[in-house]
Amino acid sequence: MLLKKKKKIVSFLVSGKGSNFKAVAEKILSGYINAEPGIVISSSGEALALKKSEELGIKSIAIESKNFRTKEEHETEIIKNLKLYKTDLVVAAGYMRILTPSFINMYRYKIINIHPSLLPSFPGKNAQQQALDYGVKLTGCTTHFIDEGTDTGPIIMQAAVEILRDDDIHTLSTKILKEEHRILVESVKFYCENRLSVKNSIVIIK
Ligand code: GRF
Repeated sequence: MLLKKKKKIVSFLVSGKGSNFKAVAEKILSGYINAEPGIVISSSGEALALKKSEELGIKSIAIESKNFRTKEEHETEIIKNLKLYKTDLVVAAGYMRILTPSFINMYRYKIINIHPSLLPSFPGKNAQQQALDYGVKLTGCTTHFIDEGTDTGPIIMQAAVEILRDDDIHTLSTKILKEEHRILVESVKFYCENRLSVKNSIVIIK
């Protein structure tokens, strides 16, 4: 008897609008990504991502750092919820908090982040503005596994976006965001199909 492969459970860490979360969640619900939704954990009770999650019928919870004495206690609550929903993969989708090494160790190569630049260029905040200020002609976005550094983990996928003369932060961010959604969906899809492996910090897509 052929044993049906158990679908991976994908949970999300969000902080803001949640458009990246929504892009992936819709592809999970449509069956394009062979996975089940787990839980959406927001670092902010006001995040629009919480509303998007409710509209999609996916469980969500705000776990705000201000309600915890230490970063460790805050993360313990996050991990408790990830485990409660039997999470196999964590997608950091516009998540604005730094994770501790113990969290990263527990989920080594199981946390995918989306960053709006072609890493290693322009890590950290306001990556789109950094690219504009520098005057590069090409920027874009990157998915990667989170490691202990800031936007330094093994790169899974990248997409390039041209900066045109009349681009400003809004037009550029909009163009990049569209590509973020595309490569994040593909990266999660490949992960859920067991097609990603990491060797010497290089991601191999089978
Ligand atoms: C995106 O550019 C993301 O890369 C950055 O925040 C923006 C909004 O993300 N971290 P989302 O709509 O909250 O997913």
